[in-house]
Amino acid sequence: MQLDRPSKTPRHVAIIMDGNGRWAGARGLARTAGHRAGVERVREAVRTAHEANIEYLTLFAFSSENWNRPEEEVSDLMGILKYFIRKDLAELHRENVCVKVIGCRQSLKPDIRGLLDEAEDRTRGNTGVTLVIAFNYGSRNELVRATRLIAEAVQAGQLDPCSINEHSLSAFVDTAGIPDPDLVIRTSGEQRLSNFLLWQAAYSEFVFLPCLWPDFDRQAFLNALDEYSRRDRRFGAIPARAERAVGS
Ligand code: IPE
Ligand code: IPE
Ligand code: MG
Repeated sequence: MQLDRPSKTPRHVAIIMDGNGRWAGARGLARTAGHRAGVERVREAVRTAHEANIEYLTLFAFSSENWNRPEEEVSDLMGILKYFIRKDLAELHRENVCVKVIGCRQSLKPDIRGLLDEAEDRTRGNTGVTLVIAFNYGSRNELVRATRLIAEAVQAGQLDPCSINEHSLSAFVDTAGIPDPDLVIRTSGEQRLSNFLLWQAAYSEFVFLPCLWPDFDRQAFLNALDEYSRRDRRFGAIPARAERAVGS
């Protein structure tokens, strides 16, 4: 079932899925139990995005800084990603979801790289929700990689430095072809970006929620969308009402 598209539905919602460890800790469980519970909410969030007519859903699953965690947790997180793709890819494909992956793939193990490539290849032609998985993703790393690509194109004589502008730079970052997020949600009460979409979120609206990611259900998602619908986005201009007053 799809809800009617309210006039202020975001086209692209990006979520920093935070708080799995604290969710587990509060229950006396190992952190990995929190990550597993979080996967259920990933499935639910994709369904809610479809229901709410959201075109792009980006989920921050593993940051370039998350390598700083104990080896055992990193290995659990890699295992959970593998399990998710193996188990859910067919279902995502059936639901017409198009999977895209952002982040540095080069430094991932070949089996993980292979699964991420497979998820993208298999769902490339799908026309439903685009699920963007941010894995081994960090904005600063993304901008460094984009800068290298630009430098190489200039060196090869394919790009005139004078022609580089905000629009053309966007074509070199991992999110090329994906509109900027209208709304960024972060769970767990933290109010920071943690190196997520620094370039793309220049004019995003932010909703910071106290709930931990494994508690982020359909209703919490719909409430965040409702909060977004009441925001006034101005992009540096003045509100329409004030503009009329200036002109009168
Ligand atoms: C988010 O939950 C998942 C990842 C970063 C991979 P955390 O694991 O950061 O949980 P907290 O913030 O420690 O509670
Ligand atoms: C951000 O959460 C990364 C993901 C949700 C994947 P972290 O838990 O890693 O962020 P910090 O360390 O609290 O800033
Ligand atoms: Mg965290």
